[in-house]
Amino acid sequence: MKKRVVILISGRGSNMGALIEAAGDPACPFVIVGVISNKADAKGLAAASSLGLETKAITRDDYPSKTALDEALDAELTRMRADIVCLAGYMRLLTPALTQKWAGRIINIHPSLLPLFRGLDTHNKALEAGMRIHGCSVHFVTEGMDEGPIVAQAAVPVMPDDNADTLEARVLRAEHRLYPLAVTLVALGKARMEGSRVVLSGVGAEGVLLSPGAASDEVDIESLARMTP
Ligand code: GRF
Repeated sequence: MKKRVVILISGRGSNMGALIEAAGDPACPFVIVGVISNKADAKGLAAASSLGLETKAITRDDYPSKTALDEALDAELTRMRADIVCLAGYMRLLTPALTQKWAGRIINIHPSLLPLFRGLDTHNKALEAGMRIHGCSVHFVTEGMDEGPIVAQAAVPVMPDDNADTLEARVLRAEHRLYPLAVTLVALGKARMEGSRVVLSGVGAEGVLLSPGAASDEVDIESLARMTP
């Protein structure tokens, strides 16, 4: 039985697009059953709708408190019968009540090699720190921002002439490969949250770290193929 995934977005939704594309493969162990945005005008919401997906805007303006908003979100996730909730550029912090209720079933993608560079502006932070590698992480969501246990990571090189835009573009390409891989691991039960750690089973190192080839910034996606059930 395929796992039912609901994606939460706030903006353009390119990671959402990567997950939708991956779910189009008959061998994929998950199906996208809905997209929810906290911004009614999010580009990604219109894109998901045009693809025939169920969409819903649940915005702060419509609720008296963050708690009330997250109760509405919880009700919608339950109605959509979500097995896994994927945050994909969802730009607000969930309340502890929601993260606790959905613990082990909510994941997020963050554009840095966590625990480095939590929060915003990660590409500038990596450049300022003089990093030679940078990347992205998929982690289970807990109360703290970008703090939950890590499922999988992808690394990219930082080139001498990089600026925040060129680095962001390289990391984003890696994100689009990493997120489907990580959701696949969670959907198959190969990556599970146990306390503050992720327990992996039946996964080699190549399944949780995508690294750049020696001469290019392309990530190795052979591991993706090996993940299919
Ligand atoms: C991505 O960089 C993601 O890692 C971060 O927000 C950005 C969302 O981009 N959490 P998109 O909406 O998926 O294009």
